[in-house]
Amino acid sequence: MAITLQKIAGGILFALILVVGLNLVVNGMMPKDDSVAPAVIAAAEGGIQMQAGQPAEIGAAAGAGPAAAPEEPLPQRLAAASVEKGREVAKRCQTCHTLNQGGGIKVGPNLWGVVGRPKASFPGFAYSDAVKSLGGTWTYADLDKFLTKPAAAAPGTKMTFAGLPDPALRADVIAYLRSISPNAPPLPK
Ligand code: HEC
Repeated sequence: MAITLQKIAGGILFALILVVGLNLVVNGMMPKDDSVAPAVIAAAEGGIQMQAGQPAEIGAAAGAGPAAAPEEPLPQRLAAASVEKGREVAKRCQTCHTLNQGGGIKVGPNLWGVVGRPKASFPGFAYSDAVKSLGGTWTYADLDKFLTKPAAAAPGTKMTFAGLPDPALRADVIAYLRSISPNAPPLPK
């Protein structure tokens, strides 16, 4: 009997130890699970945020339309323009134009003093009817329009230059042309 009771008691003790031990193991893991869970959630959220960041960037890039947004008015652009940068950009014009005082005709007319000069008036140059029919003098606004896309501003022009779509760059060139134009009118306000 005694042996049997001992066995039973031992069995119960063993079972208790098992239960307590299991509890310890399980409880021991619970805090781990709790601490792991937020980390997993944070990682998952991080992942979601990163993924969400991509469409946001794409949206920003599409919204980078600010570049394509309404351009700054010409007076502001001219006020911020750089004659030095314009001089650099004007090298592209020199394929066809002389820019110095007394310069002659190349593919196009000499551009020294062009700001404020009557349009299509350089002596000896055979202007197209398109430019001849523009009328008036070269104002800042007219140059801005013409230089954006000559073929659009004066359909049929002989100036086979694609144009300067960048509004700031255009202002730089116009500021440079102004610097070589003694009869240039005051800058527009
Ligand atoms: C591929 C040659 C070529 C290039 C490059 C070129 N032009 Fe011209 N440009 C011409 C020709 C040709 C004319 C005459 C247009 C006409 O009669 O239709 C002209 C006319 C002009 C006129 C009108 C002049 C006047 O007396 O009425 C201006 C202003 C002008 N160009 C500015 C520029 C500027 C600024 C650049 C550089 C950003 C430039 N052009 C680049 C060929 C060129």
